[in-house]
Amino acid sequence: MGMNLVDTIQQLRRERRAVILAHTYQPAEVQDIADFVGDSYGLSKQASLVDADRIIFCGVLFMAETAAVLNPGRRVVMPDATAGCPMADMITADQLRAFKAAHPGAPVVCYVNSTAEVKAESTICCTSSNAVEIVNSLGDVPEILFVPDKFLGRFVERKLNRKLVLWDGFCPTHAILRPEMVQKARREHPNAQVMVHPECSPEVQDQADHVISTGQMLALVKRSECREFIVGTEEGILHALRRAAPQTVFHHLTPFLRCPNMKKTTLAKVAHALETDETRITVPPAVADGARRAILAMLAHGGG
Ligand code: 13P
Ligand code: SF4
Repeated sequence: MGMNLVDTIQQLRRERRAVILAHTYQPAEVQDIADFVGDSYGLSKQASLVDADRIIFCGVLFMAETAAVLNPGRRVVMPDATAGCPMADMITADQLRAFKAAHPGAPVVCYVNSTAEVKAESTICCTSSNAVEIVNSLGDVPEILFVPDKFLGRFVERKLNRKLVLWDGFCPTHAILRPEMVQKARREHPNAQVMVHPECSPEVQDQADHVISTGQMLALVKRSECREFIVGTEEGILHALRRAAPQTVFHHLTPFLRCPNMKKTTLAKVAHALETDETRITVPPAVADGARRAILAMLAHGGG
């Protein structure tokens, strides 16, 4: 009898001393075979602790780059290395250098959804779960540059009641959400609470009960008394939420909230990656050193 893909993956994982990390936006079957499923912050932390020969990273390129930067000696392999993040590509290192030159001396807070080169030009990284604390930690400086996500930046501005100098980037997947969609979902499910990701527009954030990262969504549904939620972030999270709170009902705000890059990973590609180490993700040492400094500055703050 031939082995199915899941058995093949289990066997290869042992033979190759590999650990499989997956973001909560990954397809359900990929989340189910992962050793660790988490948000960007959890995955960064996990990647810094890994003790294995290779990390099979199921997510998008900036996340695998972060894992490579934090584990210079280890192989980080992506099952489909064409899975990028369009928001991360909305600012280049050259553009950031010009932005800094226009605001001399201002610290740069860089959302982890960015290239390693952009991180290397930044003061400190943040994720959607710690952006407010990280910006606040910079204290009373005249100007702070925030790249690349203007909507996460706006969220921080409102929480801290202070202005940031925002880059004009955004997530094309979350940008499809409109406030009317939230209003319609509320009419259909009047007892549900609404949670959305801070990558949504401020108008959508205004309609929500909770504006939180994916990791914070998982924590919320485990502790909440509420048993019904409307979810405004990428569809993969619904699988993770249902695993975390099996008694709770979750409604996706719209089936169109799907990140095409996150969906490039398949079990067949995971098996191939385990077998061949394709495609290995590397970051040039000078860039990695700079990016590591900015990521470690974030991790030193804790509070994911
Ligand atoms: P989290 O920081 O919530 O994991 O989100 C990552 C991401 O890519 C959101 O689109
Ligand atoms: Fe990038 Fe948006 Fe996809 Fe997240 S959901 S990886 S921010 S494109």
